[in-house]
Amino acid sequence: MCPPDHYDVDYVINPWMEGNIHKSSFDRAREQWQSLYHLIKENAIVDLVTPAKGWPDMVFTANAGLVLDKTVVLSRFYHKERQGEEPYFKTWFESQGFTVHELPKDLPFEGAGDALFDREGRYLWAGYGFRSELDSHPLIAEWLDIEVLSLRLMDERFYHLDTCFCPLTGGYLMYYPPAFDSYSNRLIELRVPPEKRIIVEEPDAINFACNTVNINQTVIMNKASDNLKARLQEAGFTVLETPLTEFLKAGGAAKCLTLRVTEPIIIDRHAVINIESRTVLMEGHLLDAGLINRALDLVIEGGGSFQVLNFNLGEQRQSTSKAEIKISAPSHEVMEEIISQLIDIGVVSLDEDQRDARLQPVEQDGVGPDDFYVSTIYPTEVRVDGQWLTVQNQRMDGAIAISETPNGLVAQCKILRDLKLGERVVVDVVGLRTIRKTESREPRNAPQEFSFMSAGVSSERRVELIVEQVAWELRQIRDRGGKVVVTAGPVVIHTGGAQHLSHLIREGYVQALLGGNAIAVHDMEQSIMGTSLGVDMKQGVAVKGGHRHHLKVINSVRRCGSIAAAVEQGVVKSGIMYECVKNNIPFSLAGSIRDDGPLPDTQMDLIKAQEHYAELLRGADMILMLSSMLHSIGVGNMTPSGVKMVCVDINPAVVTKLSDRGSVESIGVVTDVGLFLSLLVNQLDKLTSKYGVVQVG
Ligand code: ARG
Repeated sequence: MCPPDHYDVDYVINPWMEGNIHKSSFDRAREQWQSLYHLIKENAIVDLVTPAKGWPDMVFTANAGLVLDKTVVLSRFYHKERQGEEPYFKTWFESQGFTVHELPKDLPFEGAGDALFDREGRYLWAGYGFRSELDSHPLIAEWLDIEVLSLRLMDERFYHLDTCFCPLTGGYLMYYPPAFDSYSNRLIELRVPPEKRIIVEEPDAINFACNTVNINQTVIMNKASDNLKARLQEAGFTVLETPLTEFLKAGGAAKCLTLRVTEPIIIDRHAVINIESRTVLMEGHLLDAGLINRALDLVIEGGGSFQVLNFNLGEQRQSTSKAEIKISAPSHEVMEEIISQLIDIGVVSLDEDQRDARLQPVEQDGVGPDDFYVSTIYPTEVRVDGQWLTVQNQRMDGAIAISETPNGLVAQCKILRDLKLGERVVVDVVGLRTIRKTESREPRNAPQEFSFMSAGVSSERRVELIVEQVAWELRQIRDRGGKVVVTAGPVVIHTGGAQHLSHLIREGYVQALLGGNAIAVHDMEQSIMGTSLGVDMKQGVAVKGGHRHHLKVINSVRRCGSIAAAVEQGVVKSGIMYECVKNNIPFSLAGSIRDDGPLPDTQMDLIKAQEHYAELLRGADMILMLSSMLHSIGVGNMTPSGVKMVCVDINPAVVTKLSDRGSVESIGVVTDVGLFLSLLVNQLDKLTSKYGVVQVG
């Protein structure tokens, strides 16, 4: 232990210190420390380190280093506020005859604060996420010759492992599960049987109950609830409480104030490192396009850590950069998750370059192997028999199936239900890469959804700018004979957009229409009865008995046998469906549980509906998503990257959801869809008219 002669809260490096600068009482701190010291001395031998002036946190000797037998791994503090303690502790360890190992500079590890032996000495639990770096764990395993189990800390109040995790005599573990990520919790549950787990609730956790000094059957802590005390007594422990409130102000308590230098030692032990590392390569506009930040964030958020081995910064605006990065993860499982996300942003795993993808046979029609690789929207290649195959029918949420054909091996994205016995499916994340164009360096001023949304309210001018851009592209696509698919909800009709969408179809800007029963119903209701869901579209008022209108319409169309027949027979004389029929624009109406009718054309077999959607989407250059969350998301899932998606909805949540696919090509517009369509039609007519402005009605 280290007496609190120079203890104070001088700076803020954890949430407990906030608001507590110079707020602890020197006298009370000394009293509290003395009480703890005497309690421990009744049960163990205590050596003291001489405190050094200017290093107020030196009292927390748990952070001096990690000791096993005569070996110490000296701490490398994360914060410069504590780095000055290192030489004092080093000197002390050396004077006591320990062999001191020092981690490379910039590889933080905060000693026994972040590393706790199970009390039988079988393995070491090591925390990471706030103060200690995951990459320090393999070195510790090696130096101390022990198995290291890495646990990721998630709650900044519990920034050191010893604030929320406490192995006890007899294989017990007292801990606060919400402080860890789910992978770590699973690991804990694998190693510690349920009857040995003493789960601490939040009120105890924030009283630092887990920060307990355990000597044989005695546990010494700041404070415990009656409940926790009972639980500990049941497990055979004597609970001693001693207030340490002055030290809580700095984010520490009993255990932090001590360092155990006599840990139980198992002679026949071995270093076991569960951490996996891989080297990956990134190439492209890593800085300009923000790719490098995105990649490194993904690694950290995913529970891994990284080391940049090489960074070759492109010199000119046009030159690409190249980075080689070593990634570590606490397990194969976590590594796979991280790598698959990195693959999505175009990262190539170097070690994989030489390896084939792992394939497993389909053993039952419509069912993939566990662990199948889930496809994304990005063009993907897979390495089979030493050869990179381009995956066909790219879409997200599918599996990659490899089949033998007369023309050789073929890789294609398939949804699970389409998998066939005899095919092989890619599992794991080995031998896979996605092709991202380097050209897609995002121009800084592109009207991207997020910058757009972050403006809070989408100003009218922004909407106009996007309309201008969309109009330009619609015209380009039409002129080169491309394909635009529209997916629309009934709100298009309710907001008065029917006439504009009809106009777009008539003028050749739309090559396929996707929707549900409702859009067709209300479109034809408007055409036949002048109302949409019973509201008069000219007056804007509800018509008496109007709620029955759409059922009458459904009935009439059913009598005709199909929408096309209703158009041919003159029952439907205008509107969106009318224009589709007249201009031979294919449409697909997918049914749902809430459909009235349905119309004869509505496909109530959802598997068939999905297939029809996919067929109409094939080869699309642009998709206009107009106020239909359901159909738009369905369409989004079927569409590979590279297809421009424009999503218009009055609800920002829908827009965000769709643009969240992370593809640069999507634009979100939060506005009234009727208004948007009217602006769009106006702009298109401006672009195509010889005389400038034209009024459209
Ligand atoms: N103020 C110190 C810090 O933030 C408290 C250390 C507590 N020690 C511990 N092993 N949890 O570093």
